[in-house]
Amino acid sequence: MFSKAIVRKPSTTFSQGLSSSNLGRPDYQLCLAQHQAYCEALKICGLELIELVAEENYPDSTFVEDTAIVTKKCAIISRPGHESRKGEVESIAEELIKHRPIERVAAPGTLDGGDIMQLENHFYIGLSDRTNKEGARQLSSFLNKYTYTASTIDVIDSLHLKSGVNYIGDGIIVLMESLKNTNELKDYKKILITAEETYASNCVRINDCIIMPKGFPNTKAKLSALPYKIIELDMSEFEKMDGGLSCLSLRF
Ligand code: GLY
Repeated sequence: MFSKAIVRKPSTTFSQGLSSSNLGRPDYQLCLAQHQAYCEALKICGLELIELVAEENYPDSTFVEDTAIVTKKCAIISRPGHESRKGEVESIAEELIKHRPIERVAAPGTLDGGDIMQLENHFYIGLSDRTNKEGARQLSSFLNKYTYTASTIDVIDSLHLKSGVNYIGDGIIVLMESLKNTNELKDYKKILITAEETYASNCVRINDCIIMPKGFPNTKAKLSALPYKIIELDMSEFEKMDGGLSCLSLRF
């Protein structure tokens, strides 16, 4: 069960953030409205929100998930792989130190939280353009210290590991079709997301709810068969900036 989430309002510089999508630049007012709806959804899931102020110097800083890995026993502050995002971690560390013992990934390690997928007491660390082997080594060592296990998995077709695969509990992962034969994930029950709905691979289980992006009927039909309340949110403006539902909060 989660009881809290850290979120950060998008800054007015949001549209200047990193993006590889060809979906155009986001509309700021719509982005604020979508973020507000996201915050309301987290409250419906039973979470108390810790709302950090917008950081104008960091256009991508609303994607707070990339700045830390929060477990029941500790929080590990990441070292984001893109230069423009490295400074985002400081205000997150100031907040997380109130809740957990803190560890920090150090240079030359790089690591984005979006590359880290927790399955119960095991963590998959995606090796990507943002997360390097040294970052993975440091994170594994911190996790081992707190009795968790970890292993790496190559990220090939997406920005982050969790852009393409997410754990929704009960031994079930939701993943994009191109990952279906991934050896490391062979033992889990799978909900496969078709190529035209790939963006919906990033959905989030929070307590009795699953939050998923709006506009993906095949995925909705599959998730609706599970015994959870489904909450759909319009994510159009965040998708334009390569962001998904999990990226917008740190849940713990
Ligand atoms: N725009 C999110 C990222 O590239 O990190």
